[in-house]
Amino acid sequence: MAKAAIIDGKQFAARLRMAIAAQVVQLKAEHGLTPGLAVVLVGEDPASQIYVRNKGLQVREAGMNSFEQRLPVTTTQAELLAHIADLNQDPAVNGILVQLPLPKQIDPEAVIAAIAVSKDVDGFHPLNAGLLAVGAAAMVPCTPLGCLMMLKEFAGPLAGQRAVVLGRSNIVGKPMAALLLREHCTVTLAHSRTRDLAEECRQADILIAAVGKAQMVKGDWIKPGATVIDVGINRIPTPDGKGRLVGDVDFDAAVEVAGAITPVPGGVGPMTIACLLLNTLTATCRQHGIPAPDVRPAAE
Ligand code: GUN
Repeated sequence: MAKAAIIDGKQFAARLRMAIAAQVVQLKAEHGLTPGLAVVLVGEDPASQIYVRNKGLQVREAGMNSFEQRLPVTTTQAELLAHIADLNQDPAVNGILVQLPLPKQIDPEAVIAAIAVSKDVDGFHPLNAGLLAVGAAAMVPCTPLGCLMMLKEFAGPLAGQRAVVLGRSNIVGKPMAALLLREHCTVTLAHSRTRDLAEECRQADILIAAVGKAQMVKGDWIKPGATVIDVGINRIPTPDGKGRLVGDVDFDAAVEVAGAITPVPGGVGPMTIACLLLNTLTATCRQHGIPAPDVRPAAE
């Protein structure tokens, strides 16, 4: 059989950002509005600093306003909640993202619950999770939203397909399952206690791997021709000591079996930030009673 098509998430995300930037121009012209995203970083976690810098750059490139707040690692929960209360009230701020993980003195659930539901561009607030579960207009978490956009483009009509989601996190697995159900897939949510993971995966026309275990999904777990979306980002050791990023799927084996597959890096990752921009645009529109545009990646 021919090798799988490799889904170029980097290129797909660039096309999505172009389409978003065009909508931002239109929103300014027609309504005088510029979407604004506030990103709050507490402490100096090196990976988080890189994420936050990239988010700021891409927000500005899309024509939106970026507000970055860096708070010391010693910030108390009460201080952070006071910052969030200010951002909730600020009309220039349409989206709020508090970068995770937070220092240990701060309860992330309390912080997430304090963000205004309409400004929760991460889609982590329990009310947004509930709205998604009942199929209402929610803010949808960025990573599963990016996966869904890629599936709509590369997996053919979704209705009726068997989708297996590996991993039941609140950030990826659960919202991914809800989104696929909304698209009329037959959804299985599998996890570490699933009795025969390999056999469950073999049933999947669409397989989403989000377990955080390097190369756990083997080539013979994949149904020939399936669409495989790999959400994992794991660093594995290499002889030169630098390490190498791999996904949750054994890519070299899977590419021989699947119909289409996302690589790591360069698959799901770039789509996550692009979907953060999309959520910021959507939030801005909804806050002003303007219908949110159905943004699709620009043509190649
Ligand atoms: N840390 C790593 N990824 C994310 C994300 O998508 N949102 C937030 N808030 N923190 C993160």
